[in-house]
Amino acid sequence: MRIVLVGPPGAGKGTQATRLAEKLRVPHISTGDLFRANISQQTELGKLAKSYMDAGNLVPDEVTIAMAKDRMEQPDAENGFLLDGFPRNVSQAEALDELLTTENMKLDAVLDLEAPEEEVVKRIAGRRICRNDGSHVFHETYKKPAEAGVCDVCGGELYQRDDDSEETVRKRLEVYHTQTEPIIDYYKAQGLVVTISAMGPVDEVTERALGALKRED
Ligand code: AP5
Ligand code: ZN
Repeated sequence: MRIVLVGPPGAGKGTQATRLAEKLRVPHISTGDLFRANISQQTELGKLAKSYMDAGNLVPDEVTIAMAKDRMEQPDAENGFLLDGFPRNVSQAEALDELLTTENMKLDAVLDLEAPEEEVVKRIAGRRICRNDGSHVFHETYKKPAEAGVCDVCGGELYQRDDDSEETVRKRLEVYHTQTEPIIDYYKAQGLVVTISAMGPVDEVTERALGALKRED
């Protein structure tokens, strides 16, 4: 299956993508995680991306599309993938369509996670991430680690993302509304959008997502 996950920052895209990718047996491709890996390895791409991410802006299309394309062309993505955080504006969606057409592939669904602004702000404020693995994600209230500041999975140190400050979150939400939301209409025109509520316990949201995707088969 080839799926795009869309939704505001903090809706739970990363949380759900990890679970859905495992169930659907496809790789979870997150452009945010790829940028963060580049930042921690101090690559040139990481240095460039960090300045945009810390301001809550999108990283320029040219480098983002090249990075996403490179990841989608890895052997493990041959039979499907779950894209999280890409595409993020209409020109990225067009670039993805072009790539898929060249490869004779198509998307199966665009899963739109809906959550009200006051909830996503709470989710982001309490989020803590593992330094060893960005997919180990916790929350100070909703998903407390057994020991404060320590990852339950690998014992790594938990930290708060630089772009999770209140000011940057406000900017990321504005960017989401102005630049990312238009891709929902773009994909609606292709009949691909499946919208679900991202509210409620994590397990329930996963079940909701799997049910909605099955109906799209
Ligand atoms: P990215 O990393 O993609 O961030 P985002 O879209 O802002 O999304 P988040 O990671 O903040 O949230 P999420 O929806 O994954 O929520 P999560 O599962 O962690 O992008 C970051 C930056 O990178 C961008 O601003 C941009 O600069 C750049 N970038 C990335 N892709 C790009 C692109 N394509 N083009 C250009 N620039 C790009 O959950 C949040 C918290 O809530 C967690 O603590 C979690 O435990 C908790 N939680 C999750 N689900 C629930 C639930 N059901 N109930 C209670 N708590 C929950
Ligand atoms: Zn960890």
